[in-house]
Amino acid sequence: MCGIVAYTGHREAFPIILKGLKRLEYRGYDSAGVALLNGDLSVYKKQGKVADLEKSVEGKNLNGNIGIGHTRWATHGEPNDLNAHPHYSQSGDLAIIHNGIIENYDSIRQELLNRGHQFTSETDTEVLIHFIENIQERSNTSLEEAVRLALQKVVGAYAIVVISRQNPKQLIAARKGSPLVIGIGKEEYFIASDATPIVEYTNEVVYLDDREIAVINNDGLSIKNIDSVPKTPYVQTIDMELEAIEKGGYEHFMLKEIFEQPKSIMASMLGRVVADKHRLHLGGLIEYFNRLMSADRIMIVACGTSWHAGLVAEYLFEELARVPVEVEYASEFRYRNPIIRENDVVIAISQSGETADTLAAIELAKSKGAIIFGVCNVVGASIPRATHAGAYIHAGPEIGVASTKAFTGQITVLTMMALMLAHRKGTISESKFREFLIELENIPAKVEKALKLNDQIKYISDIFKDARNFLYLGRGYNFPVALEGALKLKEISYIHAEGYPAAEMKHGPIALIDEEMPVVFIATADSSYEKVVSNIQEVKARRGQVIAIVTEGDEQIKNIADYVIEIPETIEALTPLISVIPLQLLSYHVAVMRGANVDQPRNLAKSVTVE
Ligand code: M6R
Repeated sequence: MCGIVAYTGHREAFPIILKGLKRLEYRGYDSAGVALLNGDLSVYKKQGKVADLEKSVEGKNLNGNIGIGHTRWATHGEPNDLNAHPHYSQSGDLAIIHNGIIENYDSIRQELLNRGHQFTSETDTEVLIHFIENIQERSNTSLEEAVRLALQKVVGAYAIVVISRQNPKQLIAARKGSPLVIGIGKEEYFIASDATPIVEYTNEVVYLDDREIAVINNDGLSIKNIDSVPKTPYVQTIDMELEAIEKGGYEHFMLKEIFEQPKSIMASMLGRVVADKHRLHLGGLIEYFNRLMSADRIMIVACGTSWHAGLVAEYLFEELARVPVEVEYASEFRYRNPIIRENDVVIAISQSGETADTLAAIELAKSKGAIIFGVCNVVGASIPRATHAGAYIHAGPEIGVASTKAFTGQITVLTMMALMLAHRKGTISESKFREFLIELENIPAKVEKALKLNDQIKYISDIFKDARNFLYLGRGYNFPVALEGALKLKEISYIHAEGYPAAEMKHGPIALIDEEMPVVFIATADSSYEKVVSNIQEVKARRGQVIAIVTEGDEQIKNIADYVIEIPETIEALTPLISVIPLQLLSYHVAVMRGANVDQPRNLAKSVTVE
């Protein structure tokens, strides 16, 4: 949460920072601000979007070759101009941007108030920069050393960049628990929360590690850990196309990402599934594959949409590889005292690879001796670096806050993992294995076909756009899809929606059903089809409005449901990859029709790096 961009070099800093902030706006958009050094240290900040900041600085002198910028997702203090970053120190000689939470900020604030400091905001961030300056003055030391000493006292998570009027060529950056990437150009440096603001200028990057402090000045880049031990920067070349982070003619990133799914699912399988050679290989699992083979139990930890993908994985691993699976919200797992035995394996699923609760759950499981596999999208993020082994989903940057292509990418990778395990364990026959591989290769074309339903779904969205509640019901593999459909709708259209296993309806939710209640059934031709048909009858008997996602050619439900959306047939275990598509489109169109900001829904941020 919160986006950080900084630049130093030979170009004008402001346009680079502003463009970078727009790319990072998915991380938070409560307010935005920039600090520029051009003799003076000037801070410009504004409540609202980056565009509001841009408007507010029109006509101002924004020259300078060094600067820092921030887009905020509020934690301490409401979103307003004063609480926006950057924040000045007491003297005004330093400015800081920060992503994360300083948990002991209140006691530091009290200490500083006693020493005569005055604060203009309610933020923990302003306290931190005052603290740094106070240490520098009291110890008569360098800014780098003051940052180090201050961070040693700080409890919590941070990614920070500090700029100083006294050192006009210097940027100091540090991280613990929140990501920072440093881009290395020709006599210029970029710092950002992820690589998207950087790729336009350079593909040489260094990912800062936890408890590391980077100093960029006339001598170039140097990195030390918080105990002052020098580190050699590990420069990596990243592979990200500029077009992957632009809208490419679509009205919203979410729509672009929904429509990218045939390609992104294919990318998840590229070089891994070769059906005609009867081959399935996930190289990133190999080193620890034996641990997966001998696992008595798999525990899956994740949040939000990734947790829904984890539920699908529970069905897959249990059915195919005959290993017991437990799926846990990372936020719950980390705060109880989970029993993790020697032969348990943990799979952590995360699009961003930065979700704080998932990261903490991994650390907890590791401390109890578990082997952790990661299923992530963002290459080089904290979670893939914290795990022992894993597989990237290779879906490309997902920028819309509502996760879409990451969900199908995660399911694709988890399916491959379950199949690979089942095949090696011998819990699946050769012919079944082969059938799965062939069908996996068919999935992108079937998703493409499902996307052709867009106009029909738009039509249905128009009918239900003013509904106040929605129910989503499905069974088996389609139960997690029902949860996912409900989450998509509520997070971008603000309509209350609930997902349930269809059979659970009778145990409570049925009381909600009347002629006002749209009920979305995911009722594909699978092992629980007849039972779901009965559930539809029960809703119709109470005059609920039924929208049913069915398998192409279904005749039975057509006669009962109010609206029927026909999707291509596939193997039951692969159904979520297709049945989720109409639900993503439904939520998208309803949100657009209600005038909601689809890519930046209120109160949400793409990567939740706070607890
Ligand atoms: O980056 P992660 O997959 O770890 O994120 C987990 C959730 O925050 C995320 O899936 C969230 O629920 C999305 N907004 C759902 O669309």
